[in-house]
Amino acid sequence: MVDPVGGERVSQGVGDVLLPDDLGEGLRPVAAVQREGGVHPGSLATGTDRAHRPGPAPGRVHTGGVSLDLPTLDRARAVVARHFGPTPQHEWPLLGRALGATAWVKHENQTPTGAFKVRGGLVYVERLRRERPRVRGIVSATRGNHGQSLAWAGRQAGLEVVIVVPHGNSPDKNAAMEAFGAELVVHGHDFQEAAEHSAELAAERGLEAVPPFHPDLVAGVATYAAEFLVAAPFDTVYVPVGMGSGISGLIAVRDLLGLPTEIVGVVSEAAPATARSFAAGTVTPADASTFVDGVACRRPDPTALAVMVAGAARIVTVSEDLAADAMRLVLGTVHQLPEPAGSLAFAGALAETDHIGGSTVGMVLSGGNCDADLLQTVLAGRTPAA
Ligand SMILES: Cc1ncc(COP(=O)(O)O)c(C=O)c1O
Repeated sequence: MVDPVGGERVSQGVGDVLLPDDLGEGLRPVAAVQREGGVHPGSLATGTDRAHRPGPAPGRVHTGGVSLDLPTLDRARAVVARHFGPTPQHEWPLLGRALGATAWVKHENQTPTGAFKVRGGLVYVERLRRERPRVRGIVSATRGNHGQSLAWAGRQAGLEVVIVVPHGNSPDKNAAMEAFGAELVVHGHDFQEAAEHSAELAAERGLEAVPPFHPDLVAGVATYAAEFLVAAPFDTVYVPVGMGSGISGLIAVRDLLGLPTEIVGVVSEAAPATARSFAAGTVTPADASTFVDGVACRRPDPTALAVMVAGAARIVTVSEDLAADAMRLVLGTVHQLPEPAGSLAFAGALAETDHIGGSTVGMVLSGGNCDADLLQTVLAGRTPAA
């Protein structure tokens, strides 16, 4: 894929490219794009901080480029429940003391693949088996957890699974994907190059290419949002943002439930494409050179961006040092192992302690698949290299 200079015209291909022919009955794109070059003109004039106004709980929500209704969410919950139960969600007073707030954590590090993504993989694969039973396999590019998700869900459903990773990808995540039964192909120097190769492999081998952002992936990961958002009267929930499925699920469920909770996305300053795109209101690619591999997004998905613009309160950008601090914060207060993206939500809350004092905040511990050598660097008080 080539990044057009000056950003992508979002009005092109929201339906064609990303959401091809297999939309859920209740989860499909809506016309988020009002005019060329922008995703949500009405809300883009100022800054990156928007107040969310709660409304009555509707039967279906249209947020940005994705809509979700309760039957679709219920079906997704049923699919996920066939494989594992709700993940834990706890209030952690020691963490709360550090943040000056009542602090809850959603433990998505405790799914069968150690990350929230597997929920989306299960829902995607379930529809594929039901509606396209002739498809014999899937291929996708990943930095790790999306690939583990598809490897796990695909193999459970008897599919061939090919996962493309860039050179230098996390060895532990690579090993896990292979152990879950995927064929691992190492290609390219970053996610984008791996993604281009996975599209070629799909054509060559007759496999279905699974995109990093898709309505079924959003419906799947929305199941953790449905569990978490009712755990406490949250003022704010922080979530790391890579290609945007996690934050989209939270926004859609928040709107479906008619809750006033602010959803705040968190990115690294070393991968600023999403924050810049959010501020500009149009896809604005940028380099991504961060140790927080789960959020190393160079070019946001236009539909995901539309969802964020419509429904996220803001996107917080944190330094690489703060991202490492957040790993130590989680280890020292929650006493569980986060991977770098897994604790990025905590970095967002750390960056906003002035803002959240006395409130009730939620943080998504989105994954725990951390390489041992990276962990040693962090525990030694250093910030890992990208
Ligand atoms: C642990 C972890 N957290 C957060 C993210 C970002 O999620 P999304 O791509 O849904 O924005 C990822 C992406 O792979 C991840 O692995």
